[in-house]
Amino acid sequence: MTSRTLVLVLTTAAFCAGFGAVVPEPSLREAARGSGMLIGTAVRPAQLSEAAYASTLAREFNMVEPEDALKWEVVHPERASFDFSQADQIVDFATRHDMKVRGHTLVWHRQNPKWLTEEKYTSDELAEILAQHIKTVVGHYRGKIFAWDVVNEAFDELRPGTLRSTIWRDQPGIGLAANGTSYIERCFRWAHDADPQALLFYNEAEAEGVNPKSDAIYAMVRDFRQRGVPIDGVGFQMHIANLHADVASISANIKRFTALGVQVHITEMDVAVPVDADGNARPEDLQRQADIYREIASACLAQRGCTAIETWGFTDKYSWIGPHSKKTQGAALLLDREYRAKPAYEALRSAMESGRR
Ligand code: XIL
Repeated sequence: MTSRTLVLVLTTAAFCAGFGAVVPEPSLREAARGSGMLIGTAVRPAQLSEAAYASTLAREFNMVEPEDALKWEVVHPERASFDFSQADQIVDFATRHDMKVRGHTLVWHRQNPKWLTEEKYTSDELAEILAQHIKTVVGHYRGKIFAWDVVNEAFDELRPGTLRSTIWRDQPGIGLAANGTSYIERCFRWAHDADPQALLFYNEAEAEGVNPKSDAIYAMVRDFRQRGVPIDGVGFQMHIANLHADVASISANIKRFTALGVQVHITEMDVAVPVDADGNARPEDLQRQADIYREIASACLAQRGCTAIETWGFTDKYSWIGPHSKKTQGAALLLDREYRAKPAYEALRSAMESGRR
């Protein structure tokens, strides 16, 4: 058998194993084995019944995170009742396929139910509601969810370095609005009480590089570590727009955070590209996209404390970027709409195979 025939046979075997997905061996999770890196993705439970979605997910990733299923509007639809059915499906899938589960997210200003945002509560009532939510949700998944995004996006976009005004901080807040990051600290302490083994993360957007927002987060994390507030990690979302990433700045940022003794997870990576009316991107943009995936993965691999890379979905068939950009952007993920490997997939896998340097 010539080597070319062998490649053809192997590729055909991978094709058949993947229910139509054309992804050659090894998988991402196999490629990540040497470094011990967690390679994860956001998951939509409704899609788990689709054979190609489920088989690709199980084959490629060793970590999953519910994309929306643990947000308040889904998991806590009425004040007096919780609905774990969607997130439970993801956790069951992960257990069957030997994957870790990240939890997202306990405290956020978005995707909250109307009973919470449209009713008027006092700070004491709100504190009680939030404490009970954290205790119930983290408690339900104790020992099953290994890491939580406890607080998401608490820092402001428009006034860099300052805390965002939210229901949890000051509208009316849980009673600690005058004390800076104390309300965040309280949330971490509640989560720690509910599952002392879980790793607790602060997760943020647009704080990937060194900038006023990441400076403010850095100051908070340093303070929390010095005072023994239970924080284990920082998540950088990594939603990349305009095909631009300042990798040197991202590397420096990962380095300074891991030097504080916390882990860094890349939590929601996607790299949006312009698409035409049919959702198709230009080949040169997909190549640039691949370079960005490789460069970011290498930046994470270069720091021992950077322990997970997670993409916000894995197939362009299901991604928030289309609706979010009125369909002008898309094709942001590793596999195309037919689950075929894109240059981004190959780039990420080759970075994983190179391992830590
Ligand atoms: C997005 C989901 O992908 C969408 O399905 C949903 O409609 C809106 O939220 N930052 C976050 C994620 O922390 O929770 C967001 O997820 C994307 C931005």
